[in-house]
Amino acid sequence: MTQHHAARLRCEYLENPIGIDELHPRFSWWMIDLSPAAKQTAYRIRVATSIGTLSTDKPDLWDSGKVESSDQVGIVYAGKPLTSRTQAVWDVTIWDANGNPSDPSQPARFEMGLLEKSDWTAQWIETPIEGTGVAAPPVPILRRTFSINKPIQSARLYTTALGVYDAHINGQRVSDDYFRPGWTDYHKRIQYQTYDVAKQVAVGENTIATLLGDGWYVGRVAFNERGVLYGTRPALCQQLEITHTDGSITQIVTDETWRYLESPIRSSDMLDGESYDARMELSDWNAAGFSGESHPVLIAKAPDAPLVAQMNESVRIVKELTPVNDPKPATGTWNSNATIFDFGQNFSGIVRLQVKGPRGATIRLRYAEMLKENGGLYTENLRAARVTDHYTLKGDPNGETWQPRFTFHGFRYVELSFSNHWKDQKLAQPMQPFDKQSVCGLVLMSDTRVTGEFECSHPLLNQLQSNIQWGQRGNFLEVPTDCPQRDERLGWTGDAQVFASTAAYNMDVAGFFTKWMRDCDDAEQPDGRVPRVVPEAGIGPDDAGPGWSDARVICPWTMYQAYADHRMLERHYEPMKRWIDWQARSLNEAGIRCSENCGYFTGYSDWLALDSTWQSVWSATPKDFIGTAYFAHSAGIMADIAKVLGRAADAKLFANYRQKAVEGFNREFVTASGRLSVQTQAAYLFALGFDLLPENLRQPAFDRLLKLFEERHWHLSTGFLGTPMICPVLTRFGRADIAYKILLQEDYPGWLFPVKNGATTMWERWNSWTPDKGFGDAGMNSFNHYAYGAIGRWMYDNIAGIAIDPAQPGYSHIRLTPTPGGGLTHARAAIDTVRGRVEASWKIENAQFNYTVTLPPNTTATLFLPDGKSHQLQAGKHAYECVVRDS
Ligand code: BGC
Repeated sequence: MTQHHAARLRCEYLENPIGIDELHPRFSWWMIDLSPAAKQTAYRIRVATSIGTLSTDKPDLWDSGKVESSDQVGIVYAGKPLTSRTQAVWDVTIWDANGNPSDPSQPARFEMGLLEKSDWTAQWIETPIEGTGVAAPPVPILRRTFSINKPIQSARLYTTALGVYDAHINGQRVSDDYFRPGWTDYHKRIQYQTYDVAKQVAVGENTIATLLGDGWYVGRVAFNERGVLYGTRPALCQQLEITHTDGSITQIVTDETWRYLESPIRSSDMLDGESYDARMELSDWNAAGFSGESHPVLIAKAPDAPLVAQMNESVRIVKELTPVNDPKPATGTWNSNATIFDFGQNFSGIVRLQVKGPRGATIRLRYAEMLKENGGLYTENLRAARVTDHYTLKGDPNGETWQPRFTFHGFRYVELSFSNHWKDQKLAQPMQPFDKQSVCGLVLMSDTRVTGEFECSHPLLNQLQSNIQWGQRGNFLEVPTDCPQRDERLGWTGDAQVFASTAAYNMDVAGFFTKWMRDCDDAEQPDGRVPRVVPEAGIGPDDAGPGWSDARVICPWTMYQAYADHRMLERHYEPMKRWIDWQARSLNEAGIRCSENCGYFTGYSDWLALDSTWQSVWSATPKDFIGTAYFAHSAGIMADIAKVLGRAADAKLFANYRQKAVEGFNREFVTASGRLSVQTQAAYLFALGFDLLPENLRQPAFDRLLKLFEERHWHLSTGFLGTPMICPVLTRFGRADIAYKILLQEDYPGWLFPVKNGATTMWERWNSWTPDKGFGDAGMNSFNHYAYGAIGRWMYDNIAGIAIDPAQPGYSHIRLTPTPGGGLTHARAAIDTVRGRVEASWKIENAQFNYTVTLPPNTTATLFLPDGKSHQLQAGKHAYECVVRDS
């Protein structure tokens, strides 16, 4: 391999995806080249149907030819039309700064899924098993056996469900994925998965057997009872295609020949938990040789919604956690047999149980994020979610292992309790005492790769960074949820919007947001409005108001910044425009959004701000103020988006919208001397952060903002929308010192207060728990709510100083802005960007600031050093020094 070459090939953000339905997939790679100022000057992509053809240098699908370009992200396939099941291999040759070509990269693959409705010959099947409005029924197994008598070349399982499925072939799960086909608005779009099952099928007798849970389709979602949102019975659709060495194909599809039986999963619900009776286990239920009783399935009505390929990371177990404490008998609980384990970390997922005990004993597992003073679980904040699992032992003398399949919980503590009685009979032997090996925490999330590292000399900030990342782990599960524990777990648009840029530093969320943006399309109202939660889940389809519905525009723009995802802007341009147009129509004559009596929902204000008056949950910053400010902001973004897409007339239109809102804002809320009619921190942050004030009023307004912070002894009083703007605005106006001061406050309210009080994730409120008052209002008291984690972006951007240049997205040009302060003596961050790894660190010794940065090939940067000097940098490693005043 030449010294320079392309590596880490990705197709649609995925490594060797199979079963995609994008007709024009995009290719990306990293350039590997250690020479200084490394740069790609040209590329050539070759795509063929086989390795053999690729190596003949006559690729039969596409040859881009040599393209003089530094592009390495999102290159659109422009070869022969791709059809269902096409298997493709591709490679990339790149030319370096001196015009020398590399060897072709290691080949990568992609494969098309089923593109036509007619490709699906499988029918939808179901069983008569149905729960009630409140009780979840046993989970059925749907199975069939079949024999294969010709050698097998390859095999694919195309599979989906209304509900959640767990497919097995010949005794093995077909993948490590959980909760497939994933959560979408099943009325609008249903995802399917494609699995390579060549290793599982074999010549001879075969069995395919699939557990079919209720999941989001039938089970409880937020405040809805079971069966209300989508349907009352789960259904399954699977198509197994086995290609033989002679080229012939055997299809095994769901149809009336399948049989069903009840599984040991006696009930399962995302919010309520799962119950399993191991005594009902049947050997070989998922393999040949099964002789138990089964019944014919029913043919279900095929859903109207289209089947689309899942093209982002599935939910998987991303970490395993062992308890940090030795088990101790729990106090503060009804059952003297209870034991509480502490995983030392709040997270989303399930527990793997490993126990030994008498047949028929039932272990109850309850979960909580916090313990009460008496040592018992704090479950009040779960509201109506029951969050309880049950496992009934079969009595295996060698011990038994179990984990739930179709539920997840948000927790740090698990309580195990059991009864030594079964139907009033004392069980023969007692339960073997629980020990640390009895439980293992399995962390579940959409398996988005960690891309960001941040670390500095302040231990509490490091814990804050950990809490932010864990908050993301806990809530990026299918959709960006507000929280993972109570009866909510919804894709709240406002929360997602404020956190999206931090999320894109921490992890590769490009595919995750690509999917969620499609969810946003599905949720769009006929007039263009965007609801509060996406997927819309019975909370109300109307517009969610400022800062929430604006996610429609802000999230794609954020992804474009982080990943140079042009297509995300293109694909969602029309719905974004419809939403912006609707807003523009809704401004009153004075240019004010959410004006009084405007007749629609005017939003959540600066949600949970500490300046709200006792009469109201709404912040002291009025909704029309926030609405107008946010509209100006979103319209401005939309104008930028239109420019990027070359739509000059639209760009002008959106700029006019912005102008109207800015004028309205100034007329209504700003005095001639730069005072705002609203004296809150948030008000000034919006006015300054969204550039709403004329030049001459900015400094006076900023001075006033400082006063407001000073009045609160340099503490914040902002909520979900205002808080993320504090440090960026202070820094922009030259007061990073104050940003540090507020960030580093260890008392209430502020980011480090929960950290000081033992938080391992972000809390919904600064005072979700306080030493003097205990727990906050249980009605809304999540300990895993990422919104305030939006500070993460500032930590990367400014403390470590790796910032995106909005004019050259996807880290093509990087703004390096290391900003010492707060007494920190060093900081370091690394980000795996779409172009490669950027790593920057600094330390201060004897007032000497030492800085190093490594830029990946094909990028440039401008470095702004604390001494005021700036430098233009090329790819490679650089070191600088300067003198700093005491930080
Ligand atoms: C959610 C929030 C959400 C809010 C809307 C809450 O119940 O948990 O995070 O944004 O409602 O105000």
